Parts: sequence; C-alpha cells; structure tokens
Amino acid sequence: PATGTRDARGRALRDLRISVTDRCNFRCVYCMPREIFGRDYQFLDGDQLLSFEEIVRIARIAVGLGVRKLRLTGGEPLLRRGIEGLIAELAALRTPEGEPLDLALTTNGSALPVKAAALAEAGLRRVTVSVDSLSEQRFQAINDVRFPLSRVFDGIAAAEAAGLGPVKVNAVIKRGVNDDEVEALAEHFRGTGRTLRFIEYMDVGTSNGWVLDEVVPSAEIVARIDAIHPLEALPASHPGETAKRWRYRDGGGEIGVISSVTGAFCGSCTRARISAEGRLFTCLFASSGTDLRALLRDGSDDARLTAALAGLWNERDDRYSELRASGAAAAPGPDAPARIEMSYIGG
Ligand code: GTP
Ligand code: 5AD
Ligand code: SF4
Ligand code: SF4
Repeated sequence: PATGTRDARGRALRDLRISVTDRCNFRCVYCMPREIFGRDYQFLDGDQLLSFEEIVRIARIAVGLGVRKLRLTGGEPLLRRGIEGLIAELAALRTPEGEPLDLALTTNGSALPVKAAALAEAGLRRVTVSVDSLSEQRFQAINDVRFPLSRVFDGIAAAEAAGLGPVKVNAVIKRGVNDDEVEALAEHFRGTGRTLRFIEYMDVGTSNGWVLDEVVPSAEIVARIDAIHPLEALPASHPGETAKRWRYRDGGGEIGVISSVTGAFCGSCTRARISAEGRLFTCLFASSGTDLRALLRDGSDDARLTAALAGLWNERDDRYSELRASGAAAAPGPDAPARIEMSYIGG
C-alpha cells in the first residue's frame, strides 16, 4: 500500500538496516584503515550493544510503521555471538498481512564456510558477500589481514549449498586500486547466477581519506563491460533499490551498479539504520543519530516507542548524496561535521 509513515519528502519507511556489531575481522583499507582502527580504537562494549530482545522489539515496531525488509550488517555481523538466534526471532516476525519479511545479511564472507548452514536453518533468506579483487595477493592487501580469497569463495559456495542463494557479490571499485579488474570481475561472475554489483567508492565516515579522483563512475564501468558483452538496462526489482540493473543481452545473467556519487538515489531512499548501540540514523551520511536504547531501557511501552520512531521518520529531510552532487553539502574535510563510520553503521 502507498500509505504508511512518510518522511518530510514523502518517502516511506520500508527498510531497516540493523548493525549488530561495530567490530570486524578485516581491516579493509577503504573502510577500517589499521592506523585508525588499531589496538587502541574504542569499540563498543558488550553492555552497550542492544540485546537480541531489544533488536527484535525495534524491528517489530518498525514493521508496524511499514518496514518490509530487514538487513543485518556490522562491522561484520557474523562476529556477533549467537546471531543465528537473532535471525530465528526476526524470521518469525510477520507483516500486518501475515507475510514474512525479506531478511538478508551483508558479510565479508569469512565465516560463511562455518556458519552458512546454521544461518539458513535459522531462517535467513539471502546473503550479500564482498569481493573486491580476484587476485589472491591484492584481495589480501585490501582486507589487510591476509584473509584468503579462496576462503571467501568457499563461503559463497557454502551459502549457495545451504539455500542462501542466489548470492549477490559487492565490489567497491577504487581508481588505482582495483579499477583494472572491472572486466575480469564481470567475466568471472557472468553466467554463475551470482549477481555482481559494482559500488562507487563513497565518502562515508571521516577516516578513509576519500577523494573524488578515486571514484570510478558507474557509466565507465557499464561502458567497459558493454564493449565486451552488450548490456541492456533492466527495471528495478523493487522501489528504492540501490543498484541499477543491467542484463547481458546474450543471457549471461545480470550486473548492478550502485552510483551513490554520480547518480544519487536519495529521492527514493526508504532506509533507516540502527547502530549496534541502538542509535537511529535516517541517512548513511548522518553526523548524529537518536538514542533509542534509552527508551528501550526506561520502561517505555510500545506505543511510546512507535511514536518516537514515527516522529523521527516524519521529520526526516536527509538527501546527503544529492546535496553533495549539487555542491550544496560539504565534502569531507576539516570543516565538515564528523560523520559516522561505515564500520559503525554497516553501509
Ligand atoms: P539489496 O538491495 O537488498 O541488494 O541490498 P543493498 O544494496 O541495499 O545493500 P548492501 O549492504 O549490499 O549495500 C551495497 C552498497 O550500497 C554499500 O556500499 C552500501 O553502503 C550502499 N548503500 C546501501 N544503502 C544505501 C543508501 O541508502 N545510501 C547510500 N548512499 N548508499 C547505500
Ligand atoms: N564506499 C562504498 N562502499 C563501501 N563499502 C565499505 N566502505 C565503502 C565505501 N567507502 C562496502 C563494503 C560492503 C558494503 C556493505 O559496503 O565493501 O560491500
Ligand atoms: Fe571490510 Fe566490511 Fe569489515 Fe569494512 S566492515 S573492514 S568493508 S569487511
Ligand atoms: Fe538515503 Fe542518505 Fe543514502 Fe541519500 S545519502 S540514499 S538519503 S542514506
């Protein structure tokens, strides 16, 4: 239905991205550079994290306001102990029409060989796995913990074997780092049923040293692949989808491009984000969120929580990527307000 809670720009609340931990076992150079996320970095303590009960309560309330899709993120979500238990509870939630929710998880894939079966058993529907390079050496240099690429591929295979497919694969392309692999990545996943999505490197957070020169525009990526295997545009699979879809004309499957820098998609953004400590963010590029944990822990009833969440969504006016594109938002730099980190909010 077209009704439901709307923000100040008329956008519905449809997706809730839930970060379950701010920790990760990788130190990807574009996300958690080890100079910053080293031994002294203050991650959240266990008692700061929302409990599974608290997460499920927020999710249930969000579903009442229109949310139909839940995505678990991190840091690396599979590091959260007992995540299968949370998934089982989220999988039991129903829409007002009695339907289960779209329940997905974004992961670096490292724990999938061990966990895929249990995740599927618990009720997870699908996973998205990051693969930024096909070169074993380069992959390990990017994750900066020497994690083997072969093990991530084992994880993708384990996810498919467990019924978590078709798997989506995310590749962040950075000029001078892996932009020479665009064609090879496309070729590798072509015809496998795994949908590869090329992501423009974004100016999230303040610690990755983002510069515009390192962004590879999606138009370039599509043109380079189209020159080898002709592509045609596909319609979005759901409103507000982050990726633009392209199919190989010869039936080799599809790819996606996520163009947050050259083609902002704020106009249809229906995503709310909740951090592992229970702060609600109405944009990936927000500087501050709203503490819902306090409400969860002060005895507030569901009506009060519902009103708080609805009120925050009604006030929402965010469209950072559009503003950046039009020059109206400060690009990262000393004068820009500090923004939350990707690893804190999970993308
Ligand atoms: P599906 O549509 O279910 O496939 O998932 P998704 O693309 O929403 O989620 P995923 O976690 O795979 O994210 C892919 C990329 O899109 C990551 O780089 C995210 O940071 C980015 N992304 C997701 N949502 C938003 C958003 O609302 N705004 C911006 N700017 N980027 C987003
Ligand atoms: N820009 C774009 N995507 C990013 N990711 C992490 N940092 C960035 C960034 N600065 C990706 C991860 C993962 C997804 C959740 O977000 O690689 O695929
Ligand atoms: Fe890499 Fe994802 Fe971990 Fe960031 S959260 S360091 S992108 S694996
Ligand atoms: Fe949504 Fe903010 Fe991303 Fe725009 S920049 S699509 S408003 S999360």
